Amino acid sequence: MIMHIEYFQELFCGLTQISPLNFEVWNGDGPVFSSRFDGADTTISSQIEEFSDSVMSQGVFRHTSMNGWKAVFGVPIRNNEQTVGCLLAYSKNSNKNLIPDESAYAEIPDVKGVEMFLTRLVSFIEDKWEGEQEKEKITEELGRSFEDLYLYSQVANQIKTLLSSNQMNNDLVLDTMKTMRVDISFVNLFNHEGSKIAFNEDSLYLQFSGIAEKFVGKLIRTLTVQEKVEKRTHFTIHDSRTDSQFSKLFIAQYRLLAVKITHDNKFYGWLGLISFNLKESFRRSELRLLISMAEQLAMLITNTDLYKELEGFVINLIKSMVCAIEAKDVYTSGHSERVSELCLNMAEYMDLTEDDKKNLKWAAILHDVGKIGVPESILCKEGPLEDDEYRKIKEHPKRGFEILKHIKQLVPITPSILHHHERYDGKGYPDGLKGDEIPLYARIIAIIDTYDAITSRRSYRSAKSSEEAMSIIEKVAGTQLDPNLVLIFKEVYRDSIVVKKDEQISGKEKARWQCQQLT
Ligand SMILES: [Fe+2]
Repeated sequence: MIMHIEYFQELFCGLTQISPLNFEVWNGDGPVFSSRFDGADTTISSQIEEFSDSVMSQGVFRHTSMNGWKAVFGVPIRNNEQTVGCLLAYSKNSNKNLIPDESAYAEIPDVKGVEMFLTRLVSFIEDKWEGEQEKEKITEELGRSFEDLYLYSQVANQIKTLLSSNQMNNDLVLDTMKTMRVDISFVNLFNHEGSKIAFNEDSLYLQFSGIAEKFVGKLIRTLTVQEKVEKRTHFTIHDSRTDSQFSKLFIAQYRLLAVKITHDNKFYGWLGLISFNLKESFRRSELRLLISMAEQLAMLITNTDLYKELEGFVINLIKSMVCAIEAKDVYTSGHSERVSELCLNMAEYMDLTEDDKKNLKWAAILHDVGKIGVPESILCKEGPLEDDEYRKIKEHPKRGFEILKHIKQLVPITPSILHHHERYDGKGYPDGLKGDEIPLYARIIAIIDTYDAITSRRSYRSAKSSEEAMSIIEKVAGTQLDPNLVLIFKEVYRDSIVVKKDEQISGKEKARWQCQQLT
């Protein structure tokens, strides 16, 4: 309890040399320092202990004679209005032969003078002690501010480099929980990824699985209801028992700090901290930090939404380009969408990952996007093409690649766009890749592209049946097409997953219908 008593040792020992008194400092647990040079602990008797206790409990200057041989003085030491210890002083000499009071007062006759001296000494100790405590508090505050700053820089860095994502929110709550030394940290976004929670697995209250999630779920509902009534931007609850709404949410007492995530009057969700340690309380700096983090998050969400909007805009633009190409050529209308559907059927059979399915779908929709640069006179020409015209058509995989490589989200599919006219035997274009050198999506697209071309009507021939198409495909397996993938396609076909085209709808009508489906 008495801190840095070593600072006063020198002072007391020096005083002992020039004064008729020895000094001792006591706290509620016992003696913490004695200025006696012999080190003998002769003063620690039950009587001294009682005397020390009475000085502390009554909080006043006291003096008495002890065992008839010593004058003992006691002055309380206070900190923050509370008595936390006492300074005892007693005469050095003992003479048991003397009458007790005579002995004591003969040596130290001026009790008032001793009282004044000891009181000044204690007030010096208290001042010094308070200064030390203040220094310690400031050091601790600085340490925590540094941690806050560290956390803030971590968050700011994540925000600079990442768009809002599950991973980022997971990292955010984990970092916040650890740095701010709380039991639960959560971020809840109503229209995005839902709640992310990090909690202290060592906490007694959070041992049962799902209990932290349930608690946070109830808490968020309460916060949202309260926010509507009270229009508050944040909630600071130092002890849940003091609030009837929050006390019923969890069996144990807790403290809570929760701030709204808002930007431009849009309310995105909550960022919050929960602790079961009620000996500490949330500081203003922690609230400021949390508010600042919520602001950063809100900005990030706004940017992510804008980015998604922009991405959606670009993708819709490209879909419109595909529709425009297909609308020009009545014979290929709806081709890309059909290829995409069949590719997804293949993906199901091949048990591809969700990411692969998404990429394959986009590769299939966009595989002919490069035809945008092919003149309409060639694209829609009835009858056989001249060599020059054919060369122009063959440029479309490269053109598609060039168009899409500038869109970050579509970069993974650009190799499949570039190589969808390669042949398994290496006789395709543009690079003459063979076998597994050809990207997987491109090999799948090549099969479906062939199937759809055969079953579509052309200016120079009528559509062939799906059975005929399958038999042609089987014939070119191993030369033009990947034989293993053709086997899978046969299964897809056999299970009648292949979608038959509706021949009743004319080409232009169908193109219009397909475009409506796409946008
Ligand atoms: Fe093509």
